[in-house]
Amino acid sequence: MSTTSIRDLLLLGGGKDLASERGVSCAGELPAASDPDLIERAQIARAKLGDQAYILGHHYQRDEVIAFADVTGDSFKLAQAAAARPNAKYIVFCGVHFMAESADILTVSDQKVVLPDLAAGCSMADMASGEQVARCWDELGELGLAEGTIPVTYMNSSAVIKAFTGRNGGTICTSSNARTALAWALEQGTRVLFLPDQHLGRNTAVMQHGIPLEQCVVWDPWKPQGGLTEAELCSAKMILWRGHCSVHGRFTLESVNEVRRRIPDVKVLVHPECTYEVATAADLVGSTEFIIKTITAAAPGTSWAIGTELNLVQRLAKTNPDKQIVFLDKAVCYCSTMNRIDLPHLVWTLESLVEGRIVNQIIVEPEVAKYAKVALDRMLSLA
Ligand code: 13P
Ligand code: SF4
Repeated sequence: MSTTSIRDLLLLGGGKDLASERGVSCAGELPAASDPDLIERAQIARAKLGDQAYILGHHYQRDEVIAFADVTGDSFKLAQAAAARPNAKYIVFCGVHFMAESADILTVSDQKVVLPDLAAGCSMADMASGEQVARCWDELGELGLAEGTIPVTYMNSSAVIKAFTGRNGGTICTSSNARTALAWALEQGTRVLFLPDQHLGRNTAVMQHGIPLEQCVVWDPWKPQGGLTEAELCSAKMILWRGHCSVHGRFTLESVNEVRRRIPDVKVLVHPECTYEVATAADLVGSTEFIIKTITAAAPGTSWAIGTELNLVQRLAKTNPDKQIVFLDKAVCYCSTMNRIDLPHLVWTLESLVEGRIVNQIIVEPEVAKYAKVALDRMLSLA
């Protein structure tokens, strides 16, 4: 048993768990976006790499990147896909930083996970730093509440926070399995600390487990004791971290009402990172994989307003021309960090690998990886 304390663990690599501290590479080496040979260059490099490389593409990636993905999926499916490919030397992760970290943790040690642009972070994951979570846990401990509190951490978090979760008997969840993960956690303890997306935590607790809204409190990491009284914390079933997605958090109740006025038979389908107000006003709520399955299975002629990332909604509209598909809110735009991965970055990555240069490798500190894997494996076994 390791003697590493929880605080040490949270601070391990803690200086690097935020996007602003990770740095950016490849400046000056990227092919020009206007290069007319980009597609051909990508095809040639891809063919040269053969089975040595496995390219994963998250559903929010651009079409030009998805065209080269060996597998596409939501964060859960891609975590499984990475774990199931032990023979690929290079895992090229077209997604964001926390997903590539999870792939590094779940793959075998001689596999290299590469993120084509290190600036592809996630604003939500950056809303919970190792130091802030360590302080929260200490403060809960001082009140005698850490014992009996089970951490449930959304995949969209740094490896350091995942390690905290594994070290403290918790599990990771994704938007595909949050309901199961929460059911498991509620059997293990008396309350849950849900990190870092308050909306997924609240929507899952209230809409899928019937936990009263009043028993969901929000921990503000910028305030002493999360800005909560001892009485509020003692009576809470869910302590929700004050984090959110800067894309999904922008869909509004007004946009749901507006689309219902404009398209009378429309069905509103949203991702659970949307606010509780939007999720409860929608017809259906589910992960990106659920959204794709629902639209694919929908009857021709039906109308849908979808509240998730724009690349995916545009692709669904293109691939389902027999249905009317609209984006839920014109004021919301692409996930800017997902969009960082483009064809020039992919070409640069693949050509570098062909030359034997491993660029932008994502390496999780071994002690962090060890405990993060405990939490990730728990999630995979719950599923
Ligand atoms: P999924 O878990 O549905 O892939 O979502 C990941 C994500 O980043 C949503 O914003
Ligand atoms: Fe993060 Fe939101 Fe982008 Fe998903 S859509 S990667 S949660 S910022």
